[in-house]
Amino acid sequence: MDPASTEGGVPGLGGTGVPDAKERTRSSSNIDTIIGRIVVDQGLATSEEVQQCLELARSAMEENQRSLSELLVANEYITKRQLLRLKQIADAERSGQQIPGYKLLGKLGAGAMATVYKARQLSLDRLVAIKVLPRKFTQSAQFIERFYAEGRSAAQLNHPNIVQAYDVGKAGDYHYFVMEYVEGRTVYDDIVKHKRFEERDAIDITMQIAEALLHAHDRGLIHRDVKPKNMMITKEGVAKLADMGLARAITDKEAAEAEQGKAFGTPYYISPEQIRGELKIGPPADIYSLGATLYHMVTGSVPFDGKNPSAVMHHHLKSPLVPPDHVNPKLSAGISEVIEMMMAKDPRKRYQSCKDLLLDLRAVRDKKDPPIAHRDIGGADLASLAKAEAAAPALIQEDQSARQAGGVALWLFVTMCVLLVISVAVNIFLAVRSAG
Ligand SMILES: Nc1ncnc2c1ncn2[C@@H]1O[C@H](COP(=O)(O)OP(=O)(O)OP(=O)(O)O)[C@@H](O)[C@H]1O
Ligand SMILES: [Mg+2]
Repeated sequence: MDPASTEGGVPGLGGTGVPDAKERTRSSSNIDTIIGRIVVDQGLATSEEVQQCLELARSAMEENQRSLSELLVANEYITKRQLLRLKQIADAERSGQQIPGYKLLGKLGAGAMATVYKARQLSLDRLVAIKVLPRKFTQSAQFIERFYAEGRSAAQLNHPNIVQAYDVGKAGDYHYFVMEYVEGRTVYDDIVKHKRFEERDAIDITMQIAEALLHAHDRGLIHRDVKPKNMMITKEGVAKLADMGLARAITDKEAAEAEQGKAFGTPYYISPEQIRGELKIGPPADIYSLGATLYHMVTGSVPFDGKNPSAVMHHHLKSPLVPPDHVNPKLSAGISEVIEMMMAKDPRKRYQSCKDLLLDLRAVRDKKDPPIAHRDIGGADLASLAKAEAAAPALIQEDQSARQAGGVALWLFVTMCVLLVISVAVNIFLAVRSAG
């Protein structure tokens, strides 16, 4: 975990001097080979087409120095813009290949911030995953300080539901994070594939992640980026929380603002207090994000959507949540109550700890009412009932006085009618008598 342990002396990266011509050619052809592979991987050209360009590049090398990249652009397999992007990826990959003590075996995936590689740790002969951060995140001293501090805290954690952090280090200009390799898929992959989870399966995964969070929170670590892409599921069905310790270094408000939502991604799961940039972020923030993830898992929709990140964040702050069982009527009332409590806008109205959350989830799993959320919602019901009762006598009084007023009017009307009939009768009688 010591940042200094791998610093300096990394061959080919951040070396001391300008490379000589031979070295430059070797290095550019190395980058070209990686670019060629990525072009095929991304389906921009077939391997035969890349091979043809590669052969042309090799034969042309002596005469007019056209590299594979240039030939790929000249043959319109990629644009100049794409080439720039591919060069960045290849560059990062090359850095990964040169992390001392590890043999890079291939790319596992790439997120908005980094690229993750599968590798073998040579000393222990075990598979690991290495996350290589791009240069733009590693230029601020504050970021680097946080990255190592959090990396160290994450490495203290040891839990079956947390992707184990092994090491952080620096190779040349790149910072990297070595962790347990998880053979499996993410919850995000499953949502994309099946749209939604069965309630029972979603509860099972959420309980495992809540156990992981309880372990981290008890040791003073808040994840801050709980989301479907950071939850992995092994072939045996064990759920593991990834990126523990990385989020604090990256996803703070300044980073989000600096990136203006581009690299940061759409904040579908972020808590209101993180959006407000509050300094004191506690366990309820992770509980909110876990609630938003559970909402997505059981309904197939994110809790709040919008045309851009700020619209989504505005909804997190202001819009009432559509109850999950209104989106998916097959859901139990219990799970809806739990999600609504997890996603209360005011952190004080949420579960204060994963211990309480687990108690409720366990009850819902066993087809019982969640004791804490139910009491809370029951409490709200009682309050509104009391309010309704307080309002009721007024309504009754209003009703009674209206009825009384109506009665008086009727009485007056009948009296008037009787008087009218009497006066008509008297007039007729007088008229008949005077005629007689
Ligand atoms: N420890 C690991 N073992 C195996 N695969 C991993 C591991 N960590 C990450 N991955 C894979 O690498 C991918 C990229 O991970 P990364 O954390 O960089 O981005 P993300 O979490 O998917 O998205 P975002 O950038 O939005 O946070 C993941 O989606 C996952 O498929
Ligand atoms: Mg991740």
